[in-house]
This record gives sequence, structure tokens and C-alpha cells, in this order.
Amino acid sequence: MAFKLLALLLLGLCAAAADASKTKVTLYDEALCPFCRKYVSEVLAPLFENGLSDYIDLRIVALGNARKDEEGELVCQHGPVECIGNRILDCAMDLHPGQDNWFPLVLCLEDSGDFGNRTAVEECAWRSGVDAGSILECAEGPRGKELVEAAYNETWSLVPEHRWVPWVVVNDLPLFDAGDYVQAAVCLMLPEDNRPDACYVDPFPDMVLSDITPVQPRAVSQETVIV
Ligand SMILES: *[C@@H]1O[C@H](CO)[C@@H](O)[C@H](O)[C@H]1NC(C)=O
Ligand SMILES: *[C@@H]1O[C@H](CO)[C@@H](O)[C@H](O)[C@H]1NC(C)=O
Repeated sequence: MAFKLLALLLLGLCAAAADASKTKVTLYDEALCPFCRKYVSEVLAPLFENGLSDYIDLRIVALGNARKDEEGELVCQHGPVECIGNRILDCAMDLHPGQDNWFPLVLCLEDSGDFGNRTAVEECAWRSGVDAGSILECAEGPRGKELVEAAYNETWSLVPEHRWVPWVVVNDLPLFDAGDYVQAAVCLMLPEDNRPDACYVDPFPDMVLSDITPVQPRAVSQETVIV
């Protein structure tokens, strides 16, 4: 079963000709989904502490399962505050390009989850050394709307479609329910002689390889078509 994922990852490696030195990791995130918030703090944050983030081109697309109603208004799974939260996240990343710049801010915002509270957002901005005013202005204005629209377009045109959030895609290949093993996935993408020490810290590679859950057959055939 683990071999299936390994094969997918190797296919992904071949497909990722653009920047062979970095592995693309994209998290399809939803501001208030509890597992997304946990994913950011427990799975992604450690990658910034153990040095693996240097090998990753990380993107977070904040929208999640939000859908448009008949009038074209966005309906967010956890209510209107989540819609604001997604706009704040998308604006924060847009205004502070470079994952090392925006990640601490996104981590703080997702940790707090208090997107409807201006003071809480200001506190995160202050802690991350950035200006909250411009982020909130973006989130409340046309730019925030446009960014979320782009996130909407991207999220809902994924092939195969995302089935839940957090949804993690590594070099265009979804990890399905092995999202927690993104570190192992990134390590497997790297040439064996160019893996940072973090790749050899328990539980990589033996335990993780045998623990990775199989991807669904339907997805395998679709991904093969993409590759
Ligand atoms: C808003 O956030 C601040 C800072 O975290 C907190 O002290 C305050 O209690 C919050 N207000 C509400 C109404 O939750
Ligand atoms: C999103 O998709 C719609 C429909 O294809 C398109 O009209 C719109 O320009 C796109 N918006 C963004 C911001 O990508």
C-alpha cells in the first residue's frame, strides 16, 4: 500500500520540472475548521522549526468548503465569521509574500481563530511584526473579495476534487488521508543524497512508509491521467 503512494510521489517528482529543488505543498484550508487549525500548528509549524521548510514551496489557499448560493453569495461552513477569516488569511498572505513572512502570521491567526475580533487580529499582526490595518482593509474591501474568488476558483477546480479539509496536495498530487505525513512525502521527493537531517529523525522513513494509508483506486487512475 505504501508503494502506491511512493509511486505517486515519484510520478509527481517527474511532473515537477519547474523548480526541482523545492517541493510544492499546498494546503486547502478553511479558517475555522478545527482540523485545519490543528494541521497548521501541529503539522506545518514543525516544518519551519526543523528546517524542512527550506525545501518546500508552501501555499495555503483559504476557502475550504465554502460554496456560492443561488445569488452568488459565499456561504461558509462555519458561518459568516469564517468568511471573514478566509479573507483575512488570503489577504495576510497576499500582502506579505514569502512563506517565512506570512507563515508566523497565519499560524497565530489560526491558533487564535478569533477572526471576528479586531483586537485579536491586531495582536497577531503585532506579534508577527506586520501592520494589521492593511490586512483588515484588504479583507473588508474588494481586494479581499477578489482573493477569495481566486481561492474559490482554484479550490473548486481541483482534480480530483477535494473531499474534505484540510486537503493537502504535494506536487499536484493529493495526499488524501495521509496529509499528516506531508513531511515524509517531501522527504521522498528529495534525492536521497540531498535530504536534510529532519528526514532521518524518527518516524522517517520506516515507520511512516508502513503507516501511510492507501490512496483510493479512483484517485490513482485520475492522477495517472494528469501525470
Ligand atoms: C478579543 O481579543 C482580545 C485579545 O485576544 C481579548 O482580550 C478579548 O477578550 C477578545 N474579545 C472578545 C469579545 O472575545
Ligand atoms: C473565477 O472564475 C470565474 C468564472 O470562471 C471568472 O469569471 C473570474 O474572473 C475568476 N476570478 C478570479 C479572481 O480568478
